[in-house]
Amino acid sequence: MQSTKKAPKVAGPTEGRIAVHWKEEEYYKPAETFISQANLADPAVNKRFAEKNFPDCFIEYAEMLTWSQRWNIVLDTNHPPFWKWFVGGKLNASYNCVDRHLAKYKNKAALIFVPEPEDEEPVTVTYQELYVRVNEFAVLLRDFAGLKKGDRVTIHMPMIAELPVTMLACARLGVVHSVVFGGFSGEACGMRAADSGSNVLIYADGYHRGGKMMDHKVAAEIAVATAEKEGQTIDKVLVWRRYPGKYCSAAPMVKGRDFFVDEIIGNYRGKRVDPEPMDSEAALFLMYTSGTTGKPKGCQHRTGGYLAYVTGTSKYIQDIHPEDVYWCMADIGWITGHSYIVYGPLALGATSVIYEGIPTYPDAGRVWRIAERLDVNIFHTSPTAIRMLRKAGPEEPKKYHYHFKHMTTVGEPIEPEVWKWYYHVVGKDGAVIVDTYWQTENGGFLCSTKPALDPMKPGSAGPGVPGIYPIILDEQGQEIPAGTAIAGNICIKNPWPGILQTVWGDDDRFVRQYYSKYCKNPKSKDWHDWPYFAADGAMLAADGYFRILGRVDDVINVAGHRLGTKELESACLTMVEVAEAAVVPVVDEIKGRVPEIYISLKPAFAPAKEIEDRVIATIETMIGKIARPRKVWIVPDMPKTRSGKIMRRVLAAISNTLDTGDTSTLANPDIVEEIRQHVQGKQKVKTREGPDDLKQFGQEE
Ligand code: WTA
Repeated sequence: MQSTKKAPKVAGPTEGRIAVHWKEEEYYKPAETFISQANLADPAVNKRFAEKNFPDCFIEYAEMLTWSQRWNIVLDTNHPPFWKWFVGGKLNASYNCVDRHLAKYKNKAALIFVPEPEDEEPVTVTYQELYVRVNEFAVLLRDFAGLKKGDRVTIHMPMIAELPVTMLACARLGVVHSVVFGGFSGEACGMRAADSGSNVLIYADGYHRGGKMMDHKVAAEIAVATAEKEGQTIDKVLVWRRYPGKYCSAAPMVKGRDFFVDEIIGNYRGKRVDPEPMDSEAALFLMYTSGTTGKPKGCQHRTGGYLAYVTGTSKYIQDIHPEDVYWCMADIGWITGHSYIVYGPLALGATSVIYEGIPTYPDAGRVWRIAERLDVNIFHTSPTAIRMLRKAGPEEPKKYHYHFKHMTTVGEPIEPEVWKWYYHVVGKDGAVIVDTYWQTENGGFLCSTKPALDPMKPGSAGPGVPGIYPIILDEQGQEIPAGTAIAGNICIKNPWPGILQTVWGDDDRFVRQYYSKYCKNPKSKDWHDWPYFAADGAMLAADGYFRILGRVDDVINVAGHRLGTKELESACLTMVEVAEAAVVPVVDEIKGRVPEIYISLKPAFAPAKEIEDRVIATIETMIGKIARPRKVWIVPDMPKTRSGKIMRRVLAAISNTLDTGDTSTLANPDIVEEIRQHVQGKQKVKTREGPDDLKQFGQEE
């Protein structure tokens, strides 16, 4: 039957259908040995952070920090949804992560850098050493690079200890850092540098990855050129060398613009700079993330609220104590690394491990050897890495004598089977697991179990963390109650200290993206009227646990990293041959989802393997290897609606051998079968049931 009514986007699946896909999993209880030492073992936390105590409950987190001036207002809601936290307060993030630990812990390891080559010993940076390095580099940034409070600087570096040193040096001066993931291309870095208005870039020359020395500085040349094209001049490129005195890149150093840090830092030896007392609301950093339109958004995070939030959640959810050895395998270039490698753990005086290389190099035992050697007891990684390690060496963890008390999974939904391997094999049946759900925009966790207090349930993130009140809304804004087995959009009812302040330079986009959808009264100054729209589908079970289903917008989550489909499509359209491009997510056993690309060519061009290869190369140079498509399909035309919009939903169904659904309303319905044969072969392939995020993908069109 044809219907002109638009299918409900998220609240669609019926009870019966969902019941087939998701059986309720059993609970797992935290071990007594964990509970007895946990930071958060008192159930009174639920009362303290209950809605009636909001927003004052968050004073508990703010008081974990050292302020040079105490705030006078906890939450200012005068300009919704531009919330202000701990207004009137002053503090410095670098002081909180470094200086304040010196009295007690100056000789304790702050960072342990583990080089990828196994014959290079791990390098320990004590808090005293970190203090010295952060100070010297901060003076260099101020006196040599001319940076001052409020300036932005773009950092494109791999996983080496100099990256947190650089971030903390910026924070010390009140310079806003914008770290671009090291695996992103020079173009991606240049675009972000231009958007943030940075005139200084900070690079590394190279790093080890998968047994090779990667030339990273080559990207700087492209970044500078890209930024210039966008109208942003880069005056200086500061280059940390992986081995001081020895240059590991083939890219020439440009005189007067490029400088080796190890050559100039000598002038600043022994120098100190007082940490700048920053307004609680001053921006601490920008982190670019993909959204629904082509241009990545610079999520702007505040100093006071952000730092309080990551410190509080690191203490309560990550259970970090100063004596712990904590290893988060994420990259510092993503939000997880900012919040839970650098700021949270260091604010608590813990030891944070930084590993340079890939987890399975040189073999499947590497991660567990590192854990054993450093005696890591808190481990934090993503489902992608867990799947990869499970595939590469399902029995490996048993061979090593490490003992985790606590493990985290973050970034994408984890399949219960994979969760169980993590629990039984990696965690040796003893470590608690927290499945933490959150986003770049959020600063820190939104949903997770409280590790000593709540039982774990494989595949479910858990309830809102203390002070976060999530709800599921349907498309009309009606709340979907718990236990109905109906999916909807997960929203957060209240503001929280870790939420982004705005999208850098684009307040309208901030309001539009996160608040317009469900704000009933734009004039209201009551936060209750401004639920935060996360753009994730989710379900709420009767026990109050949230199960995250995936993105509802045009974003593909590859190995836990968000890639904007529009951004990838724009990259394809830079090729002269390409008339149209459509990017769709495909299920991948290890990475969760990977992109596949459909292109149609301009009339003058004929399909050729060479064009497909060049599309892949273009994606790699403009976005980075992480976005590499699995396949490029050249098609004669795209399936389109009568108004001319590409039906990416149909392409996604073909790529994933799902049912293409009702295509009769297309302007060119015949093309669907033609494309299907091109992708799947002449034979009719039996379709399967796909995961819900794929069913929803592209529904908007
Ligand atoms: C997804 C990463 C299921 C979700 C911290 C979100 C998850 C996007 C989980 C944000 C989880 C994150 N379970 N899905 N525990 N954590 N996601 O901005 O779709 O890189 O919107 O932040 O990852 O990705 P981002």
